[in-house]
Amino acid sequence: MIAEIQRRRTFAIISHPDAGKTTLTEKLLLYGGAVQLAGSVTARKNARATTSDWMELEKQRGISVSSTVLQFDYHGYRVNLLDTPGHKDFSEDTYRVLTAVDAVVMVIDAAKGIEAQTRKLFEVCRRRGVPIFTFMNKCDRPTRDPLNLLDELESVLGIGAFPVNWPLGTGTSFRGVYDRQQKSVHLFERTPQGAYRAPVQVGSLAEPFVRERLDDSDYHRAVEELEMLDIAGVEYDAQKVHHGEQTPVFFGSAMNNFGVQLLLDAFLERSLPPQPRHVGEKVIAPETPAFSGFVFKIQANMDPRHRDRIAFVRICSGKFNRDMTVTHTRTGKRVRLASAHRLFGQERETVDEAYAGDVIGLVGHTEFGIGDTLTTDPSISYQEIPRFPPECFAFLHNPNPGKFKQFRQGVEQLLQEGVVQVFDLRDSIQKIPLLAAVGPLQFEVVQYRLESEYGAPSTLENASWDAFRWLPAGVDVKAVKLPTGCRLAYDAAGLPGVLFPSAWTRKYFGELNGGMELFDLPPEG
Ligand code: G4P
Repeated sequence: MIAEIQRRRTFAIISHPDAGKTTLTEKLLLYGGAVQLAGSVTARKNARATTSDWMELEKQRGISVSSTVLQFDYHGYRVNLLDTPGHKDFSEDTYRVLTAVDAVVMVIDAAKGIEAQTRKLFEVCRRRGVPIFTFMNKCDRPTRDPLNLLDELESVLGIGAFPVNWPLGTGTSFRGVYDRQQKSVHLFERTPQGAYRAPVQVGSLAEPFVRERLDDSDYHRAVEELEMLDIAGVEYDAQKVHHGEQTPVFFGSAMNNFGVQLLLDAFLERSLPPQPRHVGEKVIAPETPAFSGFVFKIQANMDPRHRDRIAFVRICSGKFNRDMTVTHTRTGKRVRLASAHRLFGQERETVDEAYAGDVIGLVGHTEFGIGDTLTTDPSISYQEIPRFPPECFAFLHNPNPGKFKQFRQGVEQLLQEGVVQVFDLRDSIQKIPLLAAVGPLQFEVVQYRLESEYGAPSTLENASWDAFRWLPAGVDVKAVKLPTGCRLAYDAAGLPGVLFPSAWTRKYFGELNGGMELFDLPPEG
């Protein structure tokens, strides 16, 4: 079991939309031997469907809504690559995926540097201490000065940056990278649309064939910059990398396959296998004999032919065996795990065994919710899934009274899955659910799924609130004074809070209520 766990590497790729996350995912699969021919970019333009991009809504909107797990074996490693939705409206889903990984690869468009979404996702990783590897993408086009990009990592994200390799030339004169630790040059050749592995020539910086391929000025510049990095740059510190305080940086072009293999090899070598997880005071090591894991994502209707529901479980300790019986900690019930699957884009295959670090998809358990623990040791209960304050609110109406049952059943199921949050206004006349989300596209997913899976069309009425804040625990709700436009509401756990239409009303609320503290997240106790 220990050997199996040690060879696991479980990670996700994060980026600002358009930086090249999808392209890099495809290319990692190509180099990992998981697909023979990377879905060509032109084909993708037409269908906008890649190996990891499948849902109807995603195809319609050309965005990645949900995420899946891609597993492959490479050089003795078992790699689990967890795909994350690219659109900012689904950042809550992405945040949850980030609780299930042991490292991330952050893709940056080297012409643009750090963008808004990269920053947000980086923050989530930093808070969790997740190791971060950086890929400076699109070096085949004019980029910003590489030293400047490193500076930005340090000044904007506050993370030390160690360039593992260094670009030789830029834009049309980009020829390859210099590997600073191996002290070797990798010269790349373009292949048609980057569909095949790019041929690589390896040599030292001084070799004539290297000098011949590079423009004189690019050559001298690289030599100078490399010298400077050796003298004044950050030193590689494995400890810091493992704690997310230093990021190894790679340069390349995902579209052209440049630097993809170097990234994959170095990432696998330098990242860690699954690490212990904390449960309150307890530390659960991955090699603990008891099986344990938590649900970080629920997805339905992955394949219209099945129309089923899959709970994705990140295994944190022990070994999974098909048909094993575990405790579902939230309900205390014993559950037999009969149908576990390994997902690969649209493909699925039955899993007989899996180890800490792996992700399995459990089919058909409607009782499982996001954050639930499954374990053979009922004393383990993970608290891994954070909640995020919603920023958009809308009433969901059922325009068709004949579909009342389907509507209610669908809404209940989607809420349990954590697709959106719901608030109760305790209004005895109007029993219309008030949905809350981080991004408005989450509402579209609800409407789309209600109709396609439950046959219940719905209409949406946007509400003008832009924030919900929890009241302190134990407060006398009746004594709370509300500014105009605010409204009392209760979360799914029955905890009270206030819906606010503006930042100004939040401030005024404080004045009206003697500076009463409000909470972004449910208060403890
Ligand atoms: P995302 O998942 O992060 O949103 O990015 P995605 O991979 O979809 O890439 C965004 C765009 O950037 C795509 O172009 C893609 O072809 C391009 N791209 C990715 N890697 C590189 C690279 O190394 N060099 C260059 N020059 N471009 C790259 P698009 O025009 O938006 O899409 P498509 O029409 O090419 O599919």
